[in-house]
Amino acid sequence: MTDLVIIGDEGPVRTVRMNRPDKKNALTLPMYDAMAEGLESAAGQPALRCVLIAGASNGFCAGNDIGDFLAMAMGSGALGAPILRFLYALVRCDLPLVAAVCGNAVGVGTTMLLHCDHVVAATDARFATPFVGLGLVPEAASSLLAPRLMGERRAFSLLVMGRPLSADDAKAAGLINTIVAADAVEAEAMKAAREIAALPPQGILASRRLMRGSPDEIIKRIDAEAELFKTRLQSAEARAAFEAFMTRKR
Ligand code: COA
Repeated sequence: MTDLVIIGDEGPVRTVRMNRPDKKNALTLPMYDAMAEGLESAAGQPALRCVLIAGASNGFCAGNDIGDFLAMAMGSGALGAPILRFLYALVRCDLPLVAAVCGNAVGVGTTMLLHCDHVVAATDARFATPFVGLGLVPEAASSLLAPRLMGERRAFSLLVMGRPLSADDAKAAGLINTIVAADAVEAEAMKAAREIAALPPQGILASRRLMRGSPDEIIKRIDAEAELFKTRLQSAEARAAFEAFMTRKR
């Protein structure tokens, strides 16, 4: 286990917190595994009714660790198994998912939100998916879920053009529910999680299954994206973008 993800239960709410603030919560393979474990193991515990995904006050998540991307690109190009495990866990999680977002949510930091049921964000939150600029393609079934949520045009701007969304834009696009001051995000998200947790669990389960549709369709899209991602990761475009990030001067 890694201490870069902290799992904690408070009454009926499990918190899965990314805890790598020095790297703005860029996700490494052990972090994906730990997050998947946090989601998967919550399902077997009847006392738990809701999962809250949180980051740090200086940033929700900077996406996949770019050094890890470079290592994958040098290898088989396949996305590490822990990444797919985490994405599948998001899809298959039968407990409602709430997220608390401060600062930047980049790449999977944004696409994981498409799987959440309720998202609270800070006024300074910024959502970006620079996949194409990195020579990659969208992942986490975002190519399916984002157009469905916000319409083709806005999804293209976000996923392909890489234009970030402010908190206001994200609210207008339906990606987040509530915007509050940064220091109120966690409390507001916990309040929503507790509100959800107080509802009849079987009613939530049935309603969620109706609303989310078939997990198979979403998993199939994740797999199709991962197949393309593999080729793109090994492209000269991607390698150049990763190397530029790793050696950038600030
Ligand atoms: N992978 C690896 N390291 C990352 C990272 C990532 N995805 N995102 C940030 N970091 C590291 C930085 O290299 C830096 O490390 P250093 O202090 O050792 O130099 C540290 O985290 C802080 O990042 P910094 O860029 O200084 O923070 P910022 O607040 O100015 O900007 C971001 C935050 C998230 C906007 C910016 O770091 C960024 O664009 N990161 C890359 C995001 C990305 O493209 N992810 C992949 C999506 S598919």
